[in-house]
Amino acid sequence: MDAGNTPARVGMEHARPSRTALRVAMRRAAHQLYDARPLVLEDPIAVPILGKEYLPEVERTATKLHKPFSVSLRAFLVARSRYAEDLLARAVVSGATQYVLLGAGLDTFAHRNPHPQLRVFEVDHPATQEWKRELLAANNIAMPDSLTYAPVDFEHQTLPEQLLAAGYDSKAITFFAWLGVVPYLTHAAFRSTLDFIATSPTGSGVVMDYGLPRSALPFLEQLAHDSLASRVQLAGEPFRLFFTPEQMRRELAAFHALEDIGSTEINERYFSHRGDNLKVLGSAGRLVSAWLSGAV
Ligand SMILES: C[S@@+](CC[C@H](N)C(=O)[O-])C[C@H]1O[C@@H](n2cnc3c(N)ncnc32)[C@H](O)[C@@H]1O
Repeated sequence: MDAGNTPARVGMEHARPSRTALRVAMRRAAHQLYDARPLVLEDPIAVPILGKEYLPEVERTATKLHKPFSVSLRAFLVARSRYAEDLLARAVVSGATQYVLLGAGLDTFAHRNPHPQLRVFEVDHPATQEWKRELLAANNIAMPDSLTYAPVDFEHQTLPEQLLAAGYDSKAITFFAWLGVVPYLTHAAFRSTLDFIATSPTGSGVVMDYGLPRSALPFLEQLAHDSLASRVQLAGEPFRLFFTPEQMRRELAAFHALEDIGSTEINERYFSHRGDNLKVLGSAGRLVSAWLSGAV
């Protein structure tokens, strides 16, 4: 089901679809096409959603996909989706009936949702959602009845109002995924969104990824950070927000059962015993999950 909200571009900071969402989706597609089996993220929609408009670029740049930085970034991106979907499955067993993807981009979970009772809300800038609808339609990917779009700009609109308008039930146990979004936000937008999540019923949870501040990175990783930062800046979506694990722990003070994992734990969990060299390098990116009392 779709809320049928008309995308309101007027007054929005981002009148263009997200370029970083496209880049992430291309890496998920590359994982399906070029990495060894078993895949870390089985996503049969990742390739079709790009269609003939964007898939040729993945194929054209395939030789670059084996460079260490590219391999590591792809590993991190597929691991964070897999981590979110693994935790979502646990949340569903414990009673979650809503999944809210904050900054959903071209995430395809809603089109592969294996949980019959789970409603999915995709939250993103209106322009990105409109573009996603066009891509789905052009590539004959149906909108499932369980999916609702809630157009929101975290910087300028209040998430609860927009979600409620889209049919979100604030009394239902909900799992929130905030993947690849936090670094692009102001601290105020991050805080108000987290405060809203913290009002969810017991058993609800959140997963997100975040980046360490440049100053906390070893020299070579600072160079990689600068390269990525200049690319996202050029895409019009500059990095703004980083945390140390200690700062993140304080931000999540209202939550319980925190799990905050870096490359060592991510590699142990998802990339050990592989026949290829897919794994996360360095210390820049972390995955964190937290729950509202009654830990799952
Ligand atoms: C790097 S993409 C990640 C997309 C998706 N979560 C994924 O993992 O494929 C960042 C997403 O955050 C969204 N985003 C960034 N800032 C936002 C804001 N202030 N309000 C709403 N969405 C935002 C972008 O439109 C984009 O879809």
